[in-house]
Amino acid sequence: MRGRLKTIPDNFKLKGKRVLVRVDFNVPLEKVGAKYRVMDTARLEHAIPTIVRLSRAGAKVILLTHVGAPGGKIITGLRVKPIVEKLKHLLPKDVPRPRSIYHWRFKQLRPLVENLKEGEIFCLENVRFNKGEETNDLVFAKELSTLADLYVNEAFSVSHRAHASIVGVCRYLPHYAGWRLAEEIAALDRVSVRPRQPFVLVLGGAKAHDKTAVMIKLAPRAAVILAAGVIANTLLKIKGVNIGRSKVDDHPSVGLLKNLMNKRSKIAGLKESVMLIELPIDAIVAESAHGPARIVDLSIGEQLKPPEVIYDIGPQTMRRFSMFLRRAKTIVWNGPMGLIEQRRFRHGSLVVGEMIAARSKGKAFGLVGGGETIAVLSETGMAEHVDYISTGGGAMLEYLSGQELPGLRPLFK
Ligand code: 3PG
Repeated sequence: MRGRLKTIPDNFKLKGKRVLVRVDFNVPLEKVGAKYRVMDTARLEHAIPTIVRLSRAGAKVILLTHVGAPGGKIITGLRVKPIVEKLKHLLPKDVPRPRSIYHWRFKQLRPLVENLKEGEIFCLENVRFNKGEETNDLVFAKELSTLADLYVNEAFSVSHRAHASIVGVCRYLPHYAGWRLAEEIAALDRVSVRPRQPFVLVLGGAKAHDKTAVMIKLAPRAAVILAAGVIANTLLKIKGVNIGRSKVDDHPSVGLLKNLMNKRSKIAGLKESVMLIELPIDAIVAESAHGPARIVDLSIGEQLKPPEVIYDIGPQTMRRFSMFLRRAKTIVWNGPMGLIEQRRFRHGSLVVGEMIAARSKGKAFGLVGGGETIAVLSETGMAEHVDYISTGGGAMLEYLSGQELPGLRPLFK
């Protein structure tokens, strides 16, 4: 539907070529004493097969990433150094250890990358330290392009951003989709084009409006949408349920879901029809994230007290959501069910993650995406059983909603 992605042709002579690889090493960093430590390596591991393949083919591999949102300023805690240190330990022994540098002076960078040996790996400093990155400044993009002979986008999760290292640089260099990026798109297309039925979409998390487009787009194909988090709070409020002080999203686009809210759906094996958007029927609530918690049974009309907040789905909802997941042949999950920062409010997300992993690779095709969602899935210890883990949160939702991602546009034939 979008054409085919251009990946580096198999017979392409990579030996001695300077390849600029845009990766997404935007990983959580934790300060330990004076140093920073990478807390989650999933995004590094995702890029490793490409880095290794290029290095073994004799290319000079120049890695480029953003870290956080420094907004054009140099922020010590957002340097790439600890990430490159971690990468050193993750790469196989037969490829050279990656090096990094801490400035953006092109005059000095050019000879440095030129003199790299075949197979060497070099990581540039956080690209968002440059003002021109987020504004897609073409002067900056052109400077970047002088460092390489070709460009590879291996950063699907940033491809919804029209930034210089994603979009602008393609003007000046032969450009290709990374092999992992192409795999990722193929996995997403399995869902967005013709999902096996029943297709269950699970959405949670702290924002609702970024999910409305994907709900509207996938609703005709979804057997049921299981909603939790802020999107569920907002819809419960629209239905007139007292949700206390729970967070809602007043973005106007959320109103577009009103039409979907009353739709019913028929699922094979279930006698009764169900709501297309299934909302929590009970919830774990508390007056504060650290205060005592209780279960509120929304199914019998129990209400929250005015100061209370919903922090997780309740046990009845976990059972009901599991019942749908057990019947699913395709599952997409983005956004935790509750406040996963606290262990006691993580149960809903762990149950959903375990259920998806248990169904995946056989009974159903399971696709999970988004930073926090992947983190909580990892905690189940079952992440490897899920068919595909997308590196993208926002990018995955935008792609599944049928939006054209600016970073992907140049990569299609
Ligand atoms: C992400 O973490 O979703 C990607 O790295 C994109 O980051 P951004 O939302 O800061 O552009």
